[in-house]
Amino acid sequence: MPKTTQPTLPDAVRQYAESGQRRVDGWLSTLDAELIALVSAAQSVRGVTGSVGEIGVHHGRLFILLALGLQPGERAFAVDIFGEQQHNVDRSGEGDEARFRQNLARFAVSEDRIAILRASSLAIRWPEIEAAVGAPARLFSIDGGHTATITANDLAIADAGLAPDGVVVLDDYFNTEFPEVSQGMCQHRLVDGGQLVPFAIGDNKLMLARPGRGEAYRAVLAEAVPPRFFVRHTEMFGQAVTVFRTPRRLVHRIRQSEIARRLTRHPIGKALKPIVRRVLGE
Ligand SMILES: C[S@@+](CC[C@H](N)C(=O)[O-])C[C@H]1O[C@@H](n2cnc3c(N)ncnc32)[C@H](O)[C@@H]1O
Repeated sequence: MPKTTQPTLPDAVRQYAESGQRRVDGWLSTLDAELIALVSAAQSVRGVTGSVGEIGVHHGRLFILLALGLQPGERAFAVDIFGEQQHNVDRSGEGDEARFRQNLARFAVSEDRIAILRASSLAIRWPEIEAAVGAPARLFSIDGGHTATITANDLAIADAGLAPDGVVVLDDYFNTEFPEVSQGMCQHRLVDGGQLVPFAIGDNKLMLARPGRGEAYRAVLAEAVPPRFFVRHTEMFGQAVTVFRTPRRLVHRIRQSEIARRLTRHPIGKALKPIVRRVLGE
């Protein structure tokens, strides 16, 4: 991805990420919405084109964010079992096509640019999706079934369909309620020979790209995201990743503040660390 200036979010995308998305039933934090919106805008600025879409759309909360960022000529795909909930083996969400379509209309997303695929992702391969949207994926969210088999399956679909500078957003990797998502990602990376590697972590999203291609996005996010959301630069699967988090608990608010950052580097701060940890009940 060639380097240029920082992206600016289109008005409709910014408004939806900041507030509109909360009017749609589903699961997406404001921070995660902003990370995804920034990646999409960075792609537009840098001439990365393709399709966008999601496996597991529920009522469209995250999907609408992707669709609002469509560039001229691009299309979006929505894969969900919708009425066939007997295939929802881990009972994650419950897609409802009527509500999904109502929500598209509420946020002025034209259905002409959307391909809806009503099926379990286990029964779908990438060429079927590409035939419906006409291009490799530049932004692909995975939030369907949360078993290890389905997660590895969905990552394989994304891997097969991702544009060279595409980004995959995997839900619930660190959610202790769904440990098989992390098992599925480890299977993709360590067993199946999958090519998707992480570059950023949000409240509940793991962002992946092809090896070497995540670095530019990581730099965009690190510069654009306000410091109170920044946690640390670290590594995962041998790749540099940046961790962002909404500081909800007092301990996070304190730790992610500028003064705490400075203190932890100072000898006094280092000496006080065990006491502070005890006071905060860590
Ligand atoms: C957690 S919800 C998705 C939430 C959504 N991404 C949002 O923005 O709020 C999971 C969705 O995946 C769908 N689903 C579950 N198993 C699936 C499968 N095997 N293939 C496709 N969709 C599936 C469910 O019907 C449900 O709509």
